[in-house]
This record gives sequence, structure tokens and C-alpha cells, in this order.
Amino acid sequence: MSLFRTKNLDNMVAASRTPGGLKKVLGPTDLILMGIGAIVGTGIFVLTGTGALTAGPALTVSFIVAAIACGFAAMCYAEFASTVPIAGSIYTYSYVVLGELVAWMIGWDLLLEYGLATSAVAVGWSGYFQSLLSGFGITIPEILSAAPGAVPGVHSVMNLPALVIMLVLTAMLSYGVRESARVNNVMVVIKMIVVLLFIAVGVKHVTPANWHPFAPFGGTGIMSAAAVVFFAFIGFDAVTSAAEEVKRPERDLPIGIIGSLTICTILYVIVAAIMTGIVPFQMFKGIDHPVSLALQHAGENWFAGWIDLGAILGMTTVILVMAYGQTRIIYAMSRDGLLPAKLSTVHPKFGTPFFATWVVGILFGLIAAFVPLNVLAELVNIGTLAAFCLVSVAVIVLRKKRPDLKRAFRCPGVPIVPGIAVVFCLALMSFLSAITWVAFLIWLVLGLLVYFGYARSRSLLNGATQS
Ligand code: ALA
Repeated sequence: MSLFRTKNLDNMVAASRTPGGLKKVLGPTDLILMGIGAIVGTGIFVLTGTGALTAGPALTVSFIVAAIACGFAAMCYAEFASTVPIAGSIYTYSYVVLGELVAWMIGWDLLLEYGLATSAVAVGWSGYFQSLLSGFGITIPEILSAAPGAVPGVHSVMNLPALVIMLVLTAMLSYGVRESARVNNVMVVIKMIVVLLFIAVGVKHVTPANWHPFAPFGGTGIMSAAAVVFFAFIGFDAVTSAAEEVKRPERDLPIGIIGSLTICTILYVIVAAIMTGIVPFQMFKGIDHPVSLALQHAGENWFAGWIDLGAILGMTTVILVMAYGQTRIIYAMSRDGLLPAKLSTVHPKFGTPFFATWVVGILFGLIAAFVPLNVLAELVNIGTLAAFCLVSVAVIVLRKKRPDLKRAFRCPGVPIVPGIAVVFCLALMSFLSAITWVAFLIWLVLGLLVYFGYARSRSLLNGATQS
């Protein structure tokens, strides 16, 4: 039974509510901005191109399908976050509800998700960076411009800009330069301006004929594109990681999660409609900066340059949030004894998990340099969708196990709503490629081996009082 040993929930809830510890300063607006800061990035700026090629103009429908899956899972996240307002995201939640083995597997899954998400966004960053440079007449040698095989017809060896941005941001994080809430807010405003600018300028160039036929690849195309652009919504869970610093977590966390998700869905659907309205969707083949390409095509080169710049800044914040989230999950797992203690050592001068930050920064920087974006995005999506399924199931389990707990936000319609979340997530997963499934299953098997070969015997719960 020790596989299902749990941390003591009541102690953790009590600890999160005692005065002291982190300052409680964040309100609902901060949280919505934080959510948008983590959400809007490579998904909308880059993967919309791939999505348009897969679904045609019906990409708008793909965004709605992906948003529904996220929305239902978000309600489950919100119930958890408002019941157990503790940092550590679903790794921590599942440790108290579903037991150590499931928590380990989720933590292991999150390591993959957050890590590869940083790589994927770095690749997206690189595409826009190169587009901006080319506006100034500078070109990076083809051989260093992309991962091998990433762009059809281009003989490339590595994506150097993606590696460089990963190392620069790793250095910043390891020295404790974390974007402050204020810097984040400024970046979010820039991102929103860029997206709104695209909408305002782009709408004038829409040719409705480009929307016909609307769904050239039918329902399969729509679902396959949804499984890819799902990436665009990832990040709203970052809001939950701030739980301990929120003034009124019970009320504000759900507002932050659902608010940021709603705003992004509306923007994404409009952007997708305009992009596929400006140019025939076939034009996005092999393009890694589709949003600015659409404006270039419309002859709006000046605005396209601003879109490049805004996208670069916007994606930088996404990488920072994801990389930060990942090191904190590693920190939590290492502190619980499940990963080597060295990974939770804090640098005496900088007060950061210096070692862990560099280990993952170098590893995922190299992955960004050598693996194409679509492969990375699919892997991130499968990991995230699996995590969403588990959170949804966990909400049902916790309602049964602990009906007495105070839940400031209650997910409506349990067990139907979490059930629908699971069905949608599984449906999206089924449209990911076979190779993604194989890679994901290999990662999970590896996780089990590490758990039984290492983590289980070193867990701090060995000998601790369990609930
Ligand atoms: N949702 C984030 C992005 O699209 C991960 O970059």
C-alpha cells in the first residue's frame, strides 16, 4: 500500500493558511495578466501556421475544441487550487490525494512538459528573431538556422538562436533575475497590443474567398489541428503556482484561470479567422512566422516588423515562466526525496536552485537546437493532456474521499464536467501521431523504472507519519 501513501492534506492546508511565509499581494487582475503572460506565445504566433495547413480555415473551430478541453480541465484546476492553495501545482495536489506513485508519475510527466515547452517556445522565438533580422538585411547561415529536417528543402544542422536564447534566459534565472510582476505586466500589455494590432490591420485585408472551402480536410483535419494548437492554451496552470502569494486565493484563483483562458480563446479565434482570410492557407507551408507573414503578404511590412518584435518579447516571457515552473517542480520533488538532493540545493549568494536551473537549461537548450518544433509541441501536448486527465479524475476522487473540505470554488456538475474534460483530452490525444505516443510511453516506463529503482526507497515519507 505504500505506493499510495499520501502527504497529510490537513497539515498542508493549515500550513498554507497560517500567517508568515510568502507575502500575499496578488489580486485577480495580476493573476489574469500572469495567465496571459504564460499563455500567449509560440502557439498563436507559430503553430497557427501548422494548424491552418491541417484544418484549413476551420482552424477557428480547432481553437474552440481545444479551448473546451482546457476550460473543463481549468474548472478542475480551479477547484484544487482554491482548496489546497499551495505552490507546486498538480504534483503537490496529487501527492495529497492520489498518493506517491501517481504524484511521482505526474511530476515526471510535468518535467517533460515544462522542459520541452521551453524548447518549443525557444524554437518559435528563433523563427521570429530571424524574420526580424531579415528585415534589417541580416541572415543567419542556413546551416545554423533550424533543426535538421525542420524546414523542407533546407539543409540545416542546428537551431543556434534557439540554443542561445535558452542559455541567456538560463543565466538570468540562475542569477535570480526573475521577471518581476511589473515587467511581466509590461510584456503582457505589449503582447496584447501586438495581437490587437494584427487584428486591426489584418481585418482590412481579408478576402472572404480564402475561407472557402471552410473545412477542406473535414472533421479529422479539425481534430488533428486542435491536438496541435492545444499548445497555445498551455500555461494557464502557471497561475496556480502563485497560490501562496494570492490575497484571496479562494476567489481570485478561479477568476485568474478562467479569465485568462476566456480572453485568449476569443483572441485566438479572431486571429485564426483573419490569418486564413488574408492568405490562402497553403501559403503557410514551411513558414515559421505565419502571423507576420500574413501581414507581409498584405503589403504591411512596417506592421509586420512590429509583430515580429512583440512576438519575440512575448515568447521570452513564456520561456521564463515555463523554465521557472520547471525548476520549482524539480525543487519540490527533490525536497520530497524523490530526486537527488543536489537538485534542491539553493545557491548561497543568489538564492536560486542554481545547479538544477543549469542542468535543465543546457539539456532543453540542446533539444531546442536539434529537434523540430512540431515534434516538440506534440510531445508537450500529450504530456499536458495526460496531466489534465489526472487532475480531472483527482477532483472526483477528492470529493469522495474528503467531502468535508472547504472548497471556495466548486467545479460545477461533478462528476459530469470532469468526465467531459477527460473525454475531450483523450479525444485530442488520440489525434496525435503514433511516434508521439511511443515517445510518451517510453518516458512513462522510464519514470516507473526510476521510481522503483531510486525514488521510492529515498522518499521522505519512508518513516514519516502518513495520513
Ligand atoms: N501557450 C504557450 C505558447 O503558446 C506555451 O507559447
